[in-house]
Order: sequence, then C-alpha cells, then structure tokens
Amino acid sequence: MTFDEIARIPDETLRIQKTYELFDEDKRLNHSKAARVEFLTTVRYIEKYLAPSARILDIGAGAGEYSLYFSRKGHDVSAVELSEHNIAAFRKKLTPADHIDLIQGNAVDLSCYADESFDIVLLFGPLYHLSREADQQKCLSEAKRVLKPDGKLFISFITNDLILLTEFSYRPDYFLCGDYDKETFRLDDFPFVFHTVDACRTLLSRSHIRVLHEVASDGASELLEDKINAMDEESYQQYLRYHYYICEKKEFLGMTNHLLFVGEK
Ligand SMILES: C[S@@+](CC[C@H](N)C(=O)[O-])C[C@H]1O[C@@H](n2cnc3c(N)ncnc32)[C@H](O)[C@@H]1O
Repeated sequence: MTFDEIARIPDETLRIQKTYELFDEDKRLNHSKAARVEFLTTVRYIEKYLAPSARILDIGAGAGEYSLYFSRKGHDVSAVELSEHNIAAFRKKLTPADHIDLIQGNAVDLSCYADESFDIVLLFGPLYHLSREADQQKCLSEAKRVLKPDGKLFISFITNDLILLTEFSYRPDYFLCGDYDKETFRLDDFPFVFHTVDACRTLLSRSHIRVLHEVASDGASELLEDKINAMDEESYQQYLRYHYYICEKKEFLGMTNHLLFVGEK
C-alpha cells in the first residue's frame, strides 16, 4: 500500500496502523547524531522530574525507545501502543531482564489503567495522528486521569510551521507542489497531524493542563542533519549545550519539528 492509498482509508485507527507499516519508527530516534537530539532533550526534561522507582506510562510507545530507556534505569514502565507493527519491533528488543507491561490499545481509552496511578505520563505520538479535536481532548483527559495528583505529563506535537522548510530541504518543488494551503501555510494533516504553537497551547488550555515548560525538542536538527552528523563528539556535545540553551526561548518555539510540553493537572 502507498501513502496515497493509506490517506484514503476512512477509519483513523486503520490509517495509523497502515502508516506504521510503511514508516520506519524503529530507527527514527537513533539512526544518527541529529536524530538523537529529540530523544536526549526529551529525556533531559523527564529526568528533571523523575523520582527513583517512578511509575511511568508511555502512551503511543512506538518501538519502545523511551520505555526501554527508563525501564533499564529501574523505573516501573507500562506501555500502550496502537500499531501492531511497532509493537512487534518493540517486543523484538525486550530481553528476559525487561519487565515492561506492554499492551495494544488506543490512547482515547485507557480504562485498563486505574485513576491516579502513574507519576509520569508520556504522550509522544497519539497527538501526531488523532485528527479530531474531540479525540485529542479525550486522549488528554485520559492521560490526566491516570496521572497522580502531583505527577507530570509530557506531551509532544509535530509543529506546523518548520515542517515546510524541512520538506523543502528534501523537495526543491515543495513550495509550489507541497501539500499545504498556499494562503494559510497550514499543512494537510496526513500522514501526520500538525499544530502551530498557538494551537497546541489552546488545546492544552481547553484540557486544563498547567504548562511548566514549552520546549523546541529537536529544533533545526533535521534541517542541519548532515552537518550535525559530521561533527566530532566534542563539537556535538557543544551543539547539544547550545540547543539546550535555546530550546525554551519563545522566539525558537515554532522552529522545531517536535514541540514538547511539560505539564501538570
Ligand atoms: C512517531 S511515533 C512515536 C513513538 C514514541 N512515542 C517516540 O516518541 O519515539 C507515534 C506513535 O504513536 C502511536 N499512536 C498513534 N495514535 C495512537 C493512539 N490513538 N493510541 C495509541 N498509540 C497511538 C503510533 O502507532 C506510533 O507508534
């Protein structure tokens, strides 16, 4: 099946399943130094709030990059994921020493988890795909419900505005032929759902989530991929320090492919 054929599937759940049969999620965060920036930045913020032996729920866990990292650091991790393809990739990495409760499920219905049972809830994926605002709000209200009163929520979005430049870096004809509204610069919501910084803030505010940090988690890393990947380790570490220095500055928040919000209820 091609992306064009998948785009025409009316059922959203099936569309997501089919998308990840084509998209290589397993390598997304770890295939290069540039790809690692999003993971390292996100982990840095999670670790600011992580107590020893915290209970973590990873919603839309993909191929398990975050779940495995935190489980192997001694945390009690549960993971829920919609795509069978990504669950299979995740299971392949599990060793007998890994004790992660991994289930197939949908972020809009977390009824298998009790109220107020997790210290940390990660939501890195469902809001890249749920296109209806009612589903986005349901998913956020479920994430809040399972979060302990003093717990922290980590929520990421794919930002609308930098993606045009990222696409242009791959396709010289993108500004004339790309899939976006030529007046508003709003991208078509497939294969991902895109949010401007303001749309993210509106959604979180309607869901009564108190935001503690807004973070441009990968910044320009994909655009600068070749240059970042060519860096020696010392330069890369200094690039990371620069990225951490700018990633919460308001003038950079739209200049990122992924935008991370740290919040509480
Ligand atoms: C880009 S991947 C991110 C995976 C991982 N969380 C990460 O950050 O590396 C998005 C993931 O969200 C999952 N997903 C999308 N919608 C979902 C939903 N409604 N419920 C559960 N998982 C969902 C997808 O199947 C996919 O594995």
